[in-house]
Amino acid sequence: MKREQWKSQMGFLLAAVGSAIGLGNIWRFSYMAYTYGGGAFLIPYITALFTAGIPLLILEFGIGHERIGSAPLAYAKIRKNWEWLGWWAVTFVMFGIVLYYVVIIAWCLNFFILSFNLGWGQDPNSFFFKEFLAVSDSPAHIGQIRTPIFLALIFIWFMNWMIVYRGVQKGIELANKIFMPLLFILTAVLVFWALSLDGAMEGIRAYLTPDFEKISKPKVWIDAYSQIFFTLSLGFGIMIAYSSYLPEKSNITRNAFLTAFINSGYSLFAGFAVFSVLGFMAHSQGKPLADVVSQSIGLAFVAYPKAVSMMPGGNLFGAIFFLCLVVAGISSSISIIEAFTSAIVDKFGINRKKLINIITVLGFLGSVVFTTQAGLLWLDIVDHFLTHYGLVVVGIFECILVGWFFRIEVIRKHLNRISSIKLGGWWDFLIKYFVPIVLVIILVGDLKNEIQKPYGGYTWTSLILIGRDWVLLTLIAAFFLASRPWKTEHHKSGGRAKE
Ligand code: ALA
Repeated sequence: MKREQWKSQMGFLLAAVGSAIGLGNIWRFSYMAYTYGGGAFLIPYITALFTAGIPLLILEFGIGHERIGSAPLAYAKIRKNWEWLGWWAVTFVMFGIVLYYVVIIAWCLNFFILSFNLGWGQDPNSFFFKEFLAVSDSPAHIGQIRTPIFLALIFIWFMNWMIVYRGVQKGIELANKIFMPLLFILTAVLVFWALSLDGAMEGIRAYLTPDFEKISKPKVWIDAYSQIFFTLSLGFGIMIAYSSYLPEKSNITRNAFLTAFINSGYSLFAGFAVFSVLGFMAHSQGKPLADVVSQSIGLAFVAYPKAVSMMPGGNLFGAIFFLCLVVAGISSSISIIEAFTSAIVDKFGINRKKLINIITVLGFLGSVVFTTQAGLLWLDIVDHFLTHYGLVVVGIFECILVGWFFRIEVIRKHLNRISSIKLGGWWDFLIKYFVPIVLVIILVGDLKNEIQKPYGGYTWTSLILIGRDWVLLTLIAAFFLASRPWKTEHHKSGGRAKE
């Protein structure tokens, strides 16, 4: 069977950007900037982008393109007994991250509809936590499924299914060719609108004025590196699969730089809307800016609705904001589904369409737990463990595998042969030493915090059964999948480079 291919380089770039720009860019980034000293946060953020984000993105694009395969296949072609690493990445994102990610998109879809008549009422905080989510008192009390979230979830899975089912060119590429321009236009409308609000400049000042004291704390640096990982979809296996669909002649390194710059540029740009709205809130309520938001999730689902209710024509503003989140979210969730699909097709040669049907049903069923009253608590725990101990660990092993168990210059020479931006020995150095060391430091810092006190004030039992075991189960599944015999011949061929 012929490997699927993008129709154009532009289609590939938009799909990679679509994967990168997601829920993480709009409010997670802004929230971090808000808590970590405004403009000063940009220093660790940009440092992380250049020292780890871009080198790793080049690596993932390079692996996928040179080895011509999804993550498990590409790793298996590098070293046979490292196939598990690829399976682990695509399994914990497909049966972990995407399950709750789509539920957050489902919240956004609900809030999109609620925007039209400001359905959250006078007290958005109480509406969000008590009425909409009806959060239970502990992860052990699952409670009931929240019908509006459940219904929106069906719609989101349907959209995901429809897009991925149609294949790489007619599904993913086409969807991103529509979604990305739409997202950029809508975001620009939001930014210019927000800048015209009273008090906006107060917010912008806070956004751009650095508070250097805050960035002296190691936690800020750890979070900046984690944010770069999440935002560039690194360690997900996505960028490997996406670049494997490129033809031989592809300007890979330039595409990696462009993807990274567009993604971070988008975050910085969207930050202007977020901070203007915060400035407007502070101004209208006569409060200092620092007291406007208390939780990261609160930024999108509490502070924004509150602001929307206060501004003239706010319903339209709210609708555009939540539509942006839905669009950005779907273009990322389809990329996760594709990474897993591509891995199964590569190894087991299963018919793609049949596979998508099965994956969609399984994914939908797996998401349901996050629509219950304990959904927010489960989401918080699973997200914490998978992003901190899944993505980062994959990143470390990726560097070790290519840097130490393979000749990294094979990938570098291949990339230099076809790309306009040439990589030097500095890239080898970053991948072999710098990135893995930084990631190990982050991991150790995280583990230390983990042991000192239970994350988020949950009980140890919940953290172990839901968080740790989720990580372990996906790891077991990965070893199982890696141990199965190949049903295709792909693993027998080498890469594109002449080794
Ligand atoms: N990169 C995607 C995001 O930032 C997953 O949401």
